[in-house]
Amino acid sequence: MKISIIVAIAKNGVIGKTNGEMPWHVKEEFQHFRKTTFGYPVLMGRKTFETLGKPLKGRQNIIVTRNQSYSVIFTEVLILHSLDEAVDYCRMKNEKQIFIIGGGEIYRQAISLADEMIISVMKFEAEGEVKFPHFSKNLWKVVSTEDHEQFEIFRYQRIK
Ligand SMILES: NC(=O)c1ccc[n+]([C@@H]2O[C@H](COP(=O)([O-])OP(=O)(O)OC[C@H]3O[C@@H](n4cnc5c(N)ncnc54)[C@H](OP(=O)(O)O)[C@@H]3O)[C@@H](O)[C@H]2O)c1
Repeated sequence: MKISIIVAIAKNGVIGKTNGEMPWHVKEEFQHFRKTTFGYPVLMGRKTFETLGKPLKGRQNIIVTRNQSYSVIFTEVLILHSLDEAVDYCRMKNEKQIFIIGGGEIYRQAISLADEMIISVMKFEAEGEVKFPHFSKNLWKVVSTEDHEQFEIFRYQRIK
């Protein structure tokens, strides 16, 4: 099973605000996210889910929380209690690929598990406290890039 991280990062490393807000709304980048993840399980932290406010359509939404009594009104959403549990669940379901979609706390723990990172680097800086974690560039290689007006997509693959 391929584990992919997908993220959009401002030029200064910011990915979001602590109050949950996304500091920007770039339609084309959102379309890239949708097209890339559609049909695959998406795994996210509880705070990111609350920012979204509702499940992403056409994808098995998996939320991780340490709160054993956490529940949501959406019956199609799966709530699990660790990242390992979520990844193991997807393996057990024979998923070909899963996407880790944030936020900061989840990315920090997921980098060591991921095979691939699909990073949209925005062509502007943003205000916010949540940043994408530092990763060691010598463990990853860029296998493709795709330029867009307001962002550039870098696909990183883990060096085996
Ligand atoms: N730019 C992007 O591409 C992008 C993508 C996604 C999100 N974001 C932004 O990122 C921000 C949210 O990130 P964040 O770091 O604050 O929060 P987060 O990573 O979305 O969620 C953190 C929560 O996940 C749960 N969690 C974390 N590790 C866990 C583990 N090992 N086992 C079980 N549960 C675990 C905990 O929930 P409990 O507290 O309930 O236990 C924790 O409080 C928002 O501003 C959002 O807009 C940006």
